[in-house]
Amino acid sequence: PQQTHQTEDYLFKIVLIGDSAVGKSNLLARFARDEFYPNSKSTIGVEFQTQKMVINRKEVKAQIWDTAGQERFRAVTSAYYRGAVGALLVYDISRRLTFDSVGRWLNELHTHSDMNVVTILVGNKSDLKDGREVTTAEGKSLAEAQGLFFIETSALDSSNVAAAFQTVVKEIF
Ligand code: GTP
Ligand code: MG
Repeated sequence: PQQTHQTEDYLFKIVLIGDSAVGKSNLLARFARDEFYPNSKSTIGVEFQTQKMVINRKEVKAQIWDTAGQERFRAVTSAYYRGAVGALLVYDISRRLTFDSVGRWLNELHTHSDMNVVTILVGNKSDLKDGREVTTAEGKSLAEAQGLFFIETSALDSSNVAAAFQTVVKEIF
């Protein structure tokens, strides 16, 4: 019911969630436009971008939604999650507090969307090697415990950004 089927097209709604400044908007900018903003401002309200992808030789459209991590800038939560079939739950590997918030984001996701929304835990800013506060093993083990996919990315140097989105869309498809 949550996917639109029109001739050859599939449209999947994917939501980006996670604390403020973990890099959600830059992951989307990197993925959709191959851009990066070193000094981006906090997102206000909701933005979305539709990105074409090819999965198993079929064209798929991912409609990726992005909102602020901070409560006061967020749009109505239920509308944000409505119809989502995939989620990227992002934390910043250089800020442990953002990793500690993962449980809270999972609760919110499960409160407002289907239990089986395909979710990947994303440890972003893997380029910040000297500033790392969360090990790869910790990320992996939390993801395993919660039944999530796991990947580390860098919106700055592009590593694994497309793979993060593709993992989710492939699994939905
Ligand atoms: P909100 O909209 O407030 O929820 O934040 P956000 O999660 O969208 O974060 P945003 O993409 O705006 O990035 C916050 C800051 O982190 C910006 O200064 C970015 O340039 C920086 N940033 C994002 N991704 C990376 C990354 O992979 N590596 C590094 N080094 N910095 C990054
Ligand atoms: Mg943002």
